[in-house]
Amino acid sequence: MAPVLILLGPPGAGKGTQARMLEEDFGLIQLSTGDLLRAAVTAGTPAGRQAKAVMEAGALVSDDIVLAILKDRMIQPDVAKGIILDGFPRTAGQAAALDLLLAETGQKITAAISLEVDDAAMVGRVSGRHTCAACGEGYHDEFKRPAKAGVCDKCGGTEFKRRADDNAETVRGRLSAYHAQTAPLIAYYDSKGVLERINAMGPIADIRTALGQIVAGIAA
Ligand code: AP5
Repeated sequence: MAPVLILLGPPGAGKGTQARMLEEDFGLIQLSTGDLLRAAVTAGTPAGRQAKAVMEAGALVSDDIVLAILKDRMIQPDVAKGIILDGFPRTAGQAAALDLLLAETGQKITAAISLEVDDAAMVGRVSGRHTCAACGEGYHDEFKRPAKAGVCDKCGGTEFKRRADDNAETVRGRLSAYHAQTAPLIAYYDSKGVLERINAMGPIADIRTALGQIVAGIAA
């Protein structure tokens, strides 16, 4: 059965960074509801128009919108390779809906991995973040700079962008939403026997190694 991994953690924990590395290391597919919602906002779809203001305020988009967008993505053939859910589920309702969706297709959660971090460091991580406008590779002003300044390591692109919700005030709202609505899912997945915890305060490469060891063990 193809692996179904969930990455849990507050804004800035490194979910997106590590999900892209797991794609490279294990051939899995990253499904980021944040990326899917931002694409819907850019495309100006009805869902994107509803989500825009909510995302800019740092609150959670409604379960109905998020589930519709995720289900559309999960019918694409590439997900058969196995998936890394990045930023989903985020509420008890989304977790229950995911259980149903997987049961319908004879799948189940392989592991929910909680990236454990100190909130105090997350504002700095998120506000220093930028991505390559061409390929989406993620960088940080201090912690992950391109080898050659101003040039993407992955595709050679020279334009970078920052997210509209990556300012200190909105990050604090996103951290509150995480603790109120998403952190309880750690106990939910623990009770199902699929929870793994990882200290995600060290260097990116060390976390990649630790995460790789967990995934190699459970996906084998
Ligand atoms: P989303 O896009 O999911 O954002 P988030 O959860 O707030 O997470 P981030 O992307 O900010 O952090 P990350 O953990 O991926 O960190 P990253 O690897 O980039 O959601 C955005 C919004 O969309 C939500 O607020 C909500 O409105 C909506 N939404 C999305 N999903 C939803 C859902 N399911 N339900 C309802 N609403 C939803 O790392 C951050 C920075 O730190 C980078 O620059 C990176 O280079 C750097 N970094 C990473 N790891 C380290 C490290 N170990 N040391 C130093 N720097 C590091």
